[in-house]
Amino acid sequence: MAGAIRAAKPADAEVIAALNRAAFGGEDEVGVVERLRRDGLVAVELVAERDGTLIGHILLSWLPTMMDGRAVKALALAPMAVLPGYQKQGIGGRLIAAALDEAKAAGAEAVIVLGHPDYYPRFGFSAALARNLASPFSGEVFMALELVPGALAGERGSVSYPAAFGL
Ligand SMILES: CC(C)(COP(=O)(O)OP(=O)(O)OC[C@H]1O[C@@H](n2cnc3c(N)ncnc32)[C@H](O)[C@@H]1OP(=O)(O)O)[C@@H](O)C(=O)NCCC(=O)NCCS
Repeated sequence: MAGAIRAAKPADAEVIAALNRAAFGGEDEVGVVERLRRDGLVAVELVAERDGTLIGHILLSWLPTMMDGRAVKALALAPMAVLPGYQKQGIGGRLIAAALDEAKAAGAEAVIVLGHPDYYPRFGFSAALARNLASPFSGEVFMALELVPGALAGERGSVSYPAAFGL
């Protein structure tokens, strides 16, 4: 069965924490999720469910972003995880597609991700698009996607990761 993608609920919090712990093998992402919720920065939070079990999670949060002096309504995609044992079945892809739809509906103009350079480009993320954004990250792992064409066009921009990320 393919399972369903739905909005995360407060009652899912413990299961989501366990899922992130299992997928990442540590507490870092569990803490990031909790702090983003606490700080009111969550824009989109979805889970994948199969036979009553939560097998995937994705979170997008507001990320202060400027380009050539104008504010861009951008979201950070982080973290996302699929339970080991359910990976490589397309669940991550379905979570990203659904999350991008929700991001558009929330009025976001762009999404920024720090992640696997072999994975995110297939959903339209591009390191070239993030190149002019000053941030703690750079290179092929730092990628962006425009939900509104031209949203990130410009010469000098920046993203400011909130304290919740613990950077
Ligand atoms: C990354 C992750 C969310 C992908 O979820 P998924 O359901 O397995 O993804 P999909 O089935 O949609 O896509 C599978 C593809 O992701 C690729 N992928 C998974 N992990 C990868 C990694 N670490 N580096 C590069 N590619 C990776 C697989 O190689 C596969 O590619 P293929 O289709 O060419 O074989 C999942 O593997 C996961 O939870 N990993 C551990 C936590 C993590 O790293 N999260 C992402 C932080 S950026």
